Amino acid sequence: MGTYNKNVELIRDTDYPQLKNSTYLDHAGTTIPAKSSLDSFARDMSTNIWGNPHSHSTPSREAGHRIDEVRLKLLHFFNASPEDYDIVFVANASAAIKLVGEIFRDYADGQSKGKKKNSSFWFGYHRDSHNSVVGVREFTNGNFRWFANDAEVDAWIQYPTGKSSHTQEISQANLAQTEPTKIDQLGLFAWPGQSNMTGRRLPLTWAKRIHDNNRNTYSLLDASALCTTSPLYIDLWQPDFTCLSFYKIFGFPNLGALIIKKTMKHLLKHRKYFAGGTVDMVIPETSGAWHAKRENIHELLEEGTVAFTSIFAVEHALNTHAILYGSMTDISLHTTYLTNYCYNAMHSLTHTNGTPVCIIYNELGTIWDDPKLQGGTIAFSVLRANGISVGYVEVEQAADAANVYIRSGSLCNPGGIAIYLGWTPQDLRSAYAAGHRCSKPLESTDGRPIGVVRVSFGSCTTKADIDALIAFLTKTYIEPHSRHDNFEIE
Ligand SMILES: Cc1ncc(COP(=O)(O)O)c(C=O)c1O
Repeated sequence: MGTYNKNVELIRDTDYPQLKNSTYLDHAGTTIPAKSSLDSFARDMSTNIWGNPHSHSTPSREAGHRIDEVRLKLLHFFNASPEDYDIVFVANASAAIKLVGEIFRDYADGQSKGKKKNSSFWFGYHRDSHNSVVGVREFTNGNFRWFANDAEVDAWIQYPTGKSSHTQEISQANLAQTEPTKIDQLGLFAWPGQSNMTGRRLPLTWAKRIHDNNRNTYSLLDASALCTTSPLYIDLWQPDFTCLSFYKIFGFPNLGALIIKKTMKHLLKHRKYFAGGTVDMVIPETSGAWHAKRENIHELLEEGTVAFTSIFAVEHALNTHAILYGSMTDISLHTTYLTNYCYNAMHSLTHTNGTPVCIIYNELGTIWDDPKLQGGTIAFSVLRANGISVGYVEVEQAADAANVYIRSGSLCNPGGIAIYLGWTPQDLRSAYAAGHRCSKPLESTDGRPIGVVRVSFGSCTTKADIDALIAFLTKTYIEPHSRHDNFEIE
């Protein structure tokens, strides 16, 4: 059950003056930074000298120490013990995911050196995955599998080589898939903690179960959408790799992180590239070319100068967030309340002929007020009174004109679009041939939508924001259009 944090209404004017007269409902895209965190960061930057942490002057050494402190604070924030986990700063969640893909590719290449057969790694990904996760399959030699639902993942974890009759049935139904990994083959399984399309929160026990049941398959938790409004319990869930972007939690800075279990270090031994910061010695001459790598995981992976001022900005954002909101658990309860509030309001919107205004996409029987199962995101289409859907770009543009900022499209979530809107691979190929592009959508082909409208809530969202959304939907799509629409029903 959610709990509304009324205090947010009190801080909105002072800490979010940029939101005055606007309804911002795209927190899954990015949340909005609080003024006090920006102010304290600006004060810090204008009163201190921070040097490049690779240098040895006082400002540089202090910058290096401060980065170490922020690393520890963040591990604590994500409930990851520093004995077991390290945190690597990267540009964003996609960079973290790509880095994991490269680690596996390089390790598989390194293992096959001197052997006749080139080995690759196996990659499995859940259907709710973001494009940035799906892209890891390009690092494999076609050795990947799309898991169409949670049950397929559960069956695979229990029978990793596909021995169960259940898995065989699934494989036959899914002829394009490669077989699940052989028991000793290097593998990586990735899934989002929360769907960025529907807001559904996925099982978090998979990492530990994979670890316990598969000998050589590792887990990548995409926490980008989940961590926006939920605490992470890394020690409890034990994912081998976790990726996220800080702007989604705090609104700024544009920085990402990869949290790595320290026992993964053996996978770094064949990493191909080195850079300033990742090596202790380099011999540049062709003859005798040699280099010695650094020791700990973040030093091995943070290439060049880390985004040190952005790392300091994260510290300001973290401190301000705690002052304004308490804990991530409080935020999760707040957004759960709002999601349920918005869902009920949208669900009860009807045209004057009694037909629904919104069709909402999610699992059958979704429990909207359980923060374990649902995050602060709702994906939907707007319907006319005759049941035909309004183009999602049209809805986004109309909302925009009313200062209601939402998101529309396929949301970089191809599995969600395929499942919830019923698009087969052949349908999608035909839509592409007909000119549909994510960047230039056709909106619908054959009268079927090929994207959705999405609203998403953050720590600073209030009930008034949702009331503004519902007022916009009512005004734009129920009156006076419904009377007109009624005449269109055949
Ligand atoms: C679930 C999920 N994964 C990955 C990403 C990619 O994040 P970024 O664009 O910060 O790299 C997003 C972005 O919206 C996301 O929602």
